[in-house]
Amino acid sequence: MIADRMKNIDSSGIRKVFDLAAKIDDPVNLSIGQPDFDIPDEIKEEAIKAIREGFNRYTLTGGIPELIEPLKKKIEKDKKAKFEEVFITSGVSGGLVLAILATVNPGDQVIIPDPYFVMYKHLVNLVGGQPVFLDTYPDFRIDPDKLKKLINKKTKIILLNSPANPTGKVYSKDEIKEITSLLDGKILLISDEIYDEFVYETEFTSPASLYPNTLLLGGFSKTYAMTGWRIGYAAGPSLLIKEMIKLQQYTFVCAPSFAQKAAIKALDYDMSKYIEAYKNKANIVYEGLKDNFDLIKPQGAFYCFPKPKKNIEISKFVEESIKNKVLIIPGNVFSEKNLCFRLSFAAKDETIKKGIQILNNIVKTI
Ligand SMILES: Cc1ncc(COP(=O)(O)O)c(C=O)c1O
Repeated sequence: MIADRMKNIDSSGIRKVFDLAAKIDDPVNLSIGQPDFDIPDEIKEEAIKAIREGFNRYTLTGGIPELIEPLKKKIEKDKKAKFEEVFITSGVSGGLVLAILATVNPGDQVIIPDPYFVMYKHLVNLVGGQPVFLDTYPDFRIDPDKLKKLINKKTKIILLNSPANPTGKVYSKDEIKEITSLLDGKILLISDEIYDEFVYETEFTSPASLYPNTLLLGGFSKTYAMTGWRIGYAAGPSLLIKEMIKLQQYTFVCAPSFAQKAAIKALDYDMSKYIEAYKNKANIVYEGLKDNFDLIKPQGAFYCFPKPKKNIEISKFVEESIKNKVLIIPGNVFSEKNLCFRLSFAAKDETIKKGIQILNNIVKTI
């Protein structure tokens, strides 16, 4: 009954953690990929108003112009780039599915810096493409020499994610310059910027400002805590955007109507106090873990990817941690290696502090 391509998709790593977690009462949950705050009330009110006013039907496939126009202006300003076309997707996930389907032929290679967001490798495998992993351990920088060695005639795409899940790495302008200088203009750069507002103590540079053949994927899920509303956008060369919209017509149809209306309000809603709180959480995590773990200080997103200084097998460490009620995810869910674990600091400060204390105790006693 099931198609062969499904054999290429494996979700056992993360499922094991969730299965273990389901058995735990009152866990210290540091495994979650969404903010601990809720959508601001004014944005919720816009969604409710739209629903009450009957804005509940299909929208145009590419989204409503009242959202697309101000969104295009905002991203062109924020990203310091010009985009030929912008449309509304069902989250960045929806944008990724359409982008990969529209571009990757069987056998095409897609360069993915490792560690990576879980979805990338599976989507590429699903369409018969070949994920090519670029090892970025231990500091999660992209080494230009390593990148150069991976580029060949079959290279179709490089997929970047900054600020990054699971590492908290943000590429500097110089790093992005180095990377893009190695691409010949024909290679498509897909830039997943879902965490673009979560940037701490550093400046964010979008690859779109330096490399014209960029498909920017961005969204509202994380910034405004709208993960369940399924709304994002894709911006880039018209040729590609047109094909993606064509596919959206036969797959997602359109992003949720009420969420598009609410997103207009979200565009000029000031989230800085929320982001400031996350910057503080990044500090708490780094200061709390640095003595017993090797980790880079999270520069963005809401994750860190620590490695115990003591020589401990990660699967054992994660198991021990879950037994002690702290939910974290083993590194091999996000990587071809299993050296680190992902800790999400999208949680209350007390929860983070409690988790840190338990994790430090485990390395001392294991
Ligand atoms: C790097 C990255 N890209 C994309 C997504 C999916 O975002 P969306 O909710 O917009 O589909 C996530 C969610 O965890 C993510 O971490």
